[in-house]
Amino acid sequence: MTEDTPTTKPTLVLGGTGKTGRRVVARLGARGLPVRVGSRSGQPPFDWDDRSSWGPVLQGVRAAYIPYPDMVTSGATKATRAFAELAIEHGVTRLVLLTGRGEDEAQRAEHEVQDTGADVTIVRCAWFMQIFSEDYLLDPIRAGEVVLPATDGQLDPFVDADDIADVAVAALTEPGHGGQVHELTSPRLLSFPEAVAEIATASGRDIAFVPVTVEDYATAAAEHGVPAEVVDFLTYLFSDVLGHNAYVADGVERALGRPPRDFTDYARRTAATGVWTPEVDQ
Ligand SMILES: NC(=O)c1ccc[n+]([C@@H]2O[C@H](COP(=O)([O-])OP(=O)(O)OC[C@H]3O[C@@H](n4cnc5c(N)ncnc54)[C@H](OP(=O)(O)O)[C@@H]3O)[C@@H](O)[C@H]2O)c1
Repeated sequence: MTEDTPTTKPTLVLGGTGKTGRRVVARLGARGLPVRVGSRSGQPPFDWDDRSSWGPVLQGVRAAYIPYPDMVTSGATKATRAFAELAIEHGVTRLVLLTGRGEDEAQRAEHEVQDTGADVTIVRCAWFMQIFSEDYLLDPIRAGEVVLPATDGQLDPFVDADDIADVAVAALTEPGHGGQVHELTSPRLLSFPEAVAEIATASGRDIAFVPVTVEDYATAAAEHGVPAEVVDFLTYLFSDVLGHNAYVADGVERALGRPPRDFTDYARRTAATGVWTPEVDQ
C-alpha cells in the first residue's frame, strides 16, 4: 500500500480566504500540492454553523489547517473538538490548529483538540501584524488617525502572518511537528503607539495615535453601529489580552530554523504595496 503524502491527497485549509489561510493555500499551491479551500464560498462550501457541510470537505483529505473564525468566542472549543473528531473519522491524520496567546477559550480548545489523539500541532500566535493592513485597523491607518484603548506600556510581540503560514505549511507537510506547540511572535516587543509610528515612517505619512479608555472605546464603537458581540470581543482583547503576553517566543526559529520577521520589515513591505496610501480626491 502506498503511503498518503501531501502530493497524493489534498490538504484542507479552513479559513482559506482569510489572512493566514489564503497564505497557506498560496504556499501549498506554489509547491504544486493539492489543496481544498474551506470557506462558505468554497467548493464544496464549508460553514462552521452548518454541521452537514463538514463531512463533504473532509472527503479524501490527509491534513487540515483549522483557524476557527473567532477563537475567543465561547463556542470555539466545542466546535473545534467536534470538527477534529469528524476529521479523524474521515481518515485525516494531521491537524494544525491556529490559536491566540493568553486567551482562555483558545487554550481550552488546544487541550480538547490535542486530546483527540490525532497528530496535532498547535500554532499559538501573538497579535497579527496584518490587523493594520488587512483588517479593522486598515481604515483608521488610511484616514491618518488610530483611536484605541492601548498605551505605551502595553506591549506585544506582533507576529507576521507570512511567518504563521510558513510554520503552518511545515506542520501540514513535513515530519517532526506532531505534538508540538509552536508559539509564534516577532523578535521584538512593541506597543500600539510604536507600531503606528513605524507604519507612519514606512509610509511617509502623519498618522496620529489617540489613546482612549476601554469604556469610551466600547461606547463609541456601539454608537457607530458595531454589533454588541464585536464590542464585547474588542473589549476583552484590549483589557484582558493586550499587555498580558509581553514576551517573545522562539516558535518560528524552532519550527523553521530561521528567525521571525520583524515589524519594521512588515511595515516597509506593506507600505511599498500602497495599501496605506489614501486615494487622492479627484
Ligand atoms: N487577528 C489576530 O491578531 C489574531 C491573533 C491570534 C489568533 N488569532 C486567531 O486567528 C483566527 C482567524 O484567522 P485569520 O485571521 O487567518 O482569519 P480571518 O482573516 O479573520 O478570516 C476569517 C476566515 O474564516 C472564514 N469564516 C468566517 N466565518 C465562517 C463560517 N461561519 N464558516 C466557515 N468559515 C468561516 C472566512 O471565510 P469565508 O468568509 O470565505 O467563509 C475566512 O476565511 C481566529 O481564531 C483568531 O482568534 C487572531
